[in-house]
Amino acid sequence: MKTTLLSLFCAATSALPSPLTQQNAIPPFFLLAGDSTTATQSSGGGGWGDGFINTTLYSGAKGLNYGHDGATTVSFRSGGDWATVLSKVEEYKTDYRAFVTIQFGHNDQKASANISVAEYTSNLERFATEVKNAGGTPILVTPLSRRNYDNSTGTPLVIEDLADQRVATIAAANNTDTAYIDLNQASTEYLNSIGPVDAYTYNLVPDDYTHLNVEGSQVFGGLVAALIDRDFDELKSDGYVEVNATLLTALEEGKYFWP
Ligand SMILES: *[C@@H]1O[C@H](CO)[C@@H](O)[C@H](O)[C@H]1NC(C)=O
Ligand SMILES: *[C@@H]1O[C@H](CO)[C@@H](O)[C@H](O)[C@H]1NC(C)=O
Ligand SMILES: *[C@@H]1O[C@H](CO)[C@@H](O)[C@H](O)[C@H]1NC(C)=O
Ligand SMILES: *[C@@H]1O[C@H](CO)[C@@H](O)[C@H](O)[C@H]1NC(C)=O
Ligand SMILES: *[C@@H]1O[C@H](CO)[C@@H](O)[C@H](O)[C@H]1NC(C)=O
Repeated sequence: MKTTLLSLFCAATSALPSPLTQQNAIPPFFLLAGDSTTATQSSGGGGWGDGFINTTLYSGAKGLNYGHDGATTVSFRSGGDWATVLSKVEEYKTDYRAFVTIQFGHNDQKASANISVAEYTSNLERFATEVKNAGGTPILVTPLSRRNYDNSTGTPLVIEDLADQRVATIAAANNTDTAYIDLNQASTEYLNSIGPVDAYTYNLVPDDYTHLNVEGSQVFGGLVAALIDRDFDELKSDGYVEVNATLLTALEEGKYFWP
């Protein structure tokens, strides 16, 4: 069952008004808040963040990755990471348009975290509101899919174990009038389309089906960029956020890509 991702890039997921056009000459600065599926590649984690920063930002656009291995919406605040992100919004907002991507869920969902879906939702809402109050633009990001497959139907399909967190993230965006990108749906559809054997080539180490190696970071960082470009089309037209054309075609057609 091959699916096409084209619909993900055409259908509107956000009914927000267009961002202010008079700011278009100012490049964006992306501050990435999240857990290990956003974080820099290390022995303990690695997500899409560095691939996004390294390979999709042009014309003076910049980014910093504050993804923290093991983080929840609670620990990211209590451990001081969130205060750092907000201070960076203040620091960069005069010379850049400060965007904060906010992606959690992989650790919040663990029973040991003792964070209900309702708390997770309100924690995301509070993050989004605080970014706006600091003068930045929040983008809520539904959590990157894990690469665990259920083969029982004969067609390997990703186990959608972050479905509740996906819906909660979209609800948090709805409730606070915040932009969101549906990375969970887009990554699930891409992984279903390419299948497990190719999907595992993006594993940080062979048996790590959650974290990404450098190539996986560039593929899913490109997917994040494509989704952001769809909602903030001036970032694309002004040449700030660009996805490698071959990768973009592969993502749209659900075909395997190796950087
Ligand atoms: C990002 O760039 C740094 C510096 O060149 C490099 O060490 C790292 O491997 C790159 N990571 C990704 C995911 O592209
Ligand atoms: C889990 O959180 C609830 C609500 O905050 C609290 O009442 C309860 O004591 C917590 N449970 C554990 C095991 O920490
Ligand atoms: C599904 O198939 C893939 C590819 O053959 C395999 O690596 C994986 O272990 C299978 N998953 C389960 C849950 O059996
Ligand atoms: C978000 O709002 C849209 C449009 O009003 C609605 O269709 C969707 O069901 C809402 N989603 C959630 C998770 O609340
Ligand atoms: C896109 O990526 C492919 C594979 O890494 C590379 O060969 C190609 O040069 C890239 N294209 C551009 C325009 O950077």
